[in-house]
Amino acid sequence: MPEARLLEQERHQMLTTVEIANECKTFFAGQDTTSHLLTWTMFLLSRYSEWQEKLREEVVRECSDAVPSPDIITKLKLVNMVLLESLRLYNPVVFVRRAAGSDTHVSSIRVPKGTLLSIPIAPLHRDKDV
Ligand code: HEM
Repeated sequence: MPEARLLEQERHQMLTTVEIANECKTFFAGQDTTSHLLTWTMFLLSRYSEWQEKLREEVVRECSDAVPSPDIITKLKLVNMVLLESLRLYNPVVFVRRAAGSDTHVSSIRVPKGTLLSIPIAPLHRDKDV
């Protein structure tokens, strides 16, 4: 392939500055939340060693010497349960915000257009009624 055509093709494959900035935000968000989850899970497993033992047994049983594949990971039921419970107790994103795009109602509460709503995930996760 002539060099000029190759360079032209490479230019089309390049990300724009805006795309690179967007990817950086995604990486940061994903890394921060994931490391938060893993840190709290390690904390919980260090406090509840009987669960650490159950999870170890499950991982050894399902993975043996293999590098965990997506198929194997779906079989790790206890690991998944503990990760979900860790997310419930110590969720990395404690609240999310939304702006009402139009006049609306949340249950019987009137919410005018433009109202900023904070949804408190952390208290919801610990509310027995929810
Ligand atoms: C335990 C790990 C994670 C948790 C708890 C988590 C939590 C969340 C939450 C609550 C939102 C919604 C925020 C909102 O709507 O205001 C969100 C959005 C998002 N997360 Fe994650 N996240 C995790 C991992 C990741 C990873 C690994 C990635 C990327 C590799 C990622 C990429 C995104 C993106 C792109 C959005 C925006 C989606 C959209 O609005 O269209 N997240 N995440």
